[in-house]
This record gives sequence, C-alpha cells and structure tokens, in this order.
Amino acid sequence: MYNSLVPIMGTKKQLADLGAVASGLAHEIRNPLNSLHINSQLIVEMLDALPDGQQKSEILSMAQSNLKVTKRLSDLLSDFLRYARPPSMELVVSDLNRIVSETLRFLEVDFSRRGVELAARLHPEPVPLFADEKQLRQALLNLLLNAEEAMDKDRKRIRVSTGFSGGRPFVRVQDNGRGIPAADRGQIFRLFFTTRRNGSGLGLPIVRQIVRNHGGKISIRSRQGMGTTVTVTLPSEAQSKAKLSGRSGRGLLPEKVR
Ligand SMILES: Nc1ncnc2c1ncn2[C@@H]1O[C@H](COP(=O)(O)OP(=O)(O)OP(=O)(O)O)[C@@H](O)[C@H]1O
Ligand SMILES: [Mg+2]
Repeated sequence: MYNSLVPIMGTKKQLADLGAVASGLAHEIRNPLNSLHINSQLIVEMLDALPDGQQKSEILSMAQSNLKVTKRLSDLLSDFLRYARPPSMELVVSDLNRIVSETLRFLEVDFSRRGVELAARLHPEPVPLFADEKQLRQALLNLLLNAEEAMDKDRKRIRVSTGFSGGRPFVRVQDNGRGIPAADRGQIFRLFFTTRRNGSGLGLPIVRQIVRNHGGKISIRSRQGMGTTVTVTLPSEAQSKAKLSGRSGRGLLPEKVR
C-alpha cells in the first residue's frame, strides 16, 4: 500500500523542486536582465540624439527592437515570480465598488484611446468584503486586459458590474469580443497557455491564484464570436471573518467554465 504511494509523492516533490528551481532561476535572471533593459533604453536615447546620418535609422530601429524584447522578458519574469512566490495577503475591510472604480480609472484613458466603451454598473451601496486590495486590483486588471485583447468588432464594449449573489459579493467583466473556442475552455487556466502572439499565459493563472487565496471562485461563460463573461464571487466580509476565526471550514468552490 505504501509502495504505491511512493511514485506519487516522488512526482509531487519533483514538481515542487522544479517550481523552486524555476523561480530561483527567474530571480537570478532578473537583475542582469534589468541592466540590459536600462542599457537598451540609454542606447536608444543616445542614438536618437545623434545627428541624422549613415545608418542611424537602421541602428536605431534595431536598438528599439532590443528594448521591446528586454521589456517583454522583464514583464514576463515579474509576472512569473508573482505567480511562483505570491506575496503574503494583506487583508483589510474593503469595498469592492471602490476597488473596481480605482482599477477602471487606471485603464480609462487607454481604453478610450483604443475605442473601447467601458460601462460600469456598480451596486448602489458599498459592497463590503475582506480583501487584499492590491491583489484584487491585479486580478481585475488581468481580466479587463483579457477582455480588451479579445475585441474584434467595430463596436467594442466592456461592461463591469458588481453586486451580491446569494449574499456573496461578485464582480463581473463582460466583453463582446471573439469568445473562447470550446476546445480552449479546458486550457485557459493552464500556466503559459496563450493564444495571443505576445501573451505569456500567466494572466488567468494569477487571477485564479488570487481568487482562491480569497476563498472565492471564478466562473466563465463564453460564446465564440459573441463574447465572454467572467464572474468572480468572493466570500462576504462576515464569511471571511468566520473563516479566519476558524469557525467555518468550508473548502474552495470549484471554477466553472462553460
Ligand atoms: N475575455 C476573453 N476573451 C477571449 N479569450 C480569452 C479571454 N480571456 C482569456 N482568453 C483566452 O485565454 C488565454 C489565456 O489567458 P491569460 O490571461 O492567462 O493569458 P494571456 O492573456 O494570453 O497572456 P498574459 O499573460 O499577458 O495575460 C488567452 O490567450 C485567450 O486565448
Ligand atoms: Mg491575459
């Protein structure tokens, strides 16, 4: 009986080791990559200041391309490290409406420049919950960026709403983008799964990690060609407090992807 457990435990340990090696490696790469990034930035600025002449524009465009690549790699590493070594939770009594409004304000200008109509339908009263505000803003930002990146119609619409479902606070991000093909629906939470040219496939795994750490659940409904609706449901303030004081041992709610 114990023998049959050995390979399973071995696999789990190997996975844990691999995770530790991967995050250690990412950490080691980060500093030299940052200096490469800063140098690329300086080279672009210095070249730009030179008088126009032989091959300037050619060299400048190569330097700009290097800058773009180092920026992308450095963002990828930061996201990966955030996933592999999530910061500890700083839970405070908060208002989901305020977290949503702050995140929307951050994206407003960018979205309107890209022709995206952003509509907020927030619950008329505050939506209290116990949350790590920074992490929830990060999760929401990832969902909103996914919605924006899925836009494929002339009229681009994203609607964000908040409210209560069975007494639990929820936030919903609805887009009228291309939708998620049925074949991809089982994959979207997989680390590094992406269908985008410049995607890293870390957005949804990070969202899921944050939502799980809050004891919440994510459900996604998508219709190909029509759009996607992502709903994050979180425990109410009272439920979180009860859980923190150990009175409620309820497990995590599963994700639903339809
Ligand atoms: N709102 C959406 N509409 C359509 N497809 C989506 C939507 N959200 C996620 N997806 C699909 O799920 C995939 C994984 O999303 P995820 O956010 O994890 O990674 P990504 O957006 O590709 O890269 P990044 O790490 O930059 O977020 C996307 O590549 C896309 O195929
Ligand atoms: Mg994403």
